[in-house]
Amino acid sequence: MTTTPHITTATLRVNGEDRTVAFATHHTLLEVLREELGLTGTKHGCELGECGACTVLVDGRAVLSCLMLAAEATGREIDTVEGLRAGPSLHPLQAAFVELGATQCGYCTPGMLMSAKALLDEVEAPDDAQIDTALGGNLCRCTGYVSIVDAVRRAAPQDMTRREVGAETSESETGDGRSTAV
Ligand code: FES
Ligand code: FES
Repeated sequence: MTTTPHITTATLRVNGEDRTVAFATHHTLLEVLREELGLTGTKHGCELGECGACTVLVDGRAVLSCLMLAAEATGREIDTVEGLRAGPSLHPLQAAFVELGATQCGYCTPGMLMSAKALLDEVEAPDDAQIDTALGGNLCRCTGYVSIVDAVRRAAPQDMTRREVGAETSESETGDGRSTAV
């Protein structure tokens, strides 16, 4: 990372790819993702840490990207909604949101999805209270939340299966029972 008085140049690891980018040193991760890297799936909302629209994962944890300087994100794994689907397939959370009408205007959806992903990565079968807590910082003006909680509940077993299949595939690819990174 290099920094002149006003400009920082750094390599950010986003959705598994290294992206070298120059940005105003005071810019947030949200601003750099959207304006410098073109990843506009992550939404501008309040920019005050109150709505959750800007949620991304940093080292696997849900983070409000409007409250984090981009410079602080160097050397960390950043995941945005653009990296959620695997190839042509929707992530189980995305599929469940579509099936259950958990997205209406869609503005909150990327943040909801990333908060829910952080939860499912940590808890295989969350109960409603855990889902409520995980999504507690994400505001939705459209859905009334019921369909969103239903979608996360529906996605949980498919997500577990998907990860199990991914792990088995990696083991079989090595041919010797060793697992490759998934
Ligand atoms: S835009 Fe970050 S919490 Fe609202
Ligand atoms: S779907 Fe419109 S804000 Fe949530």
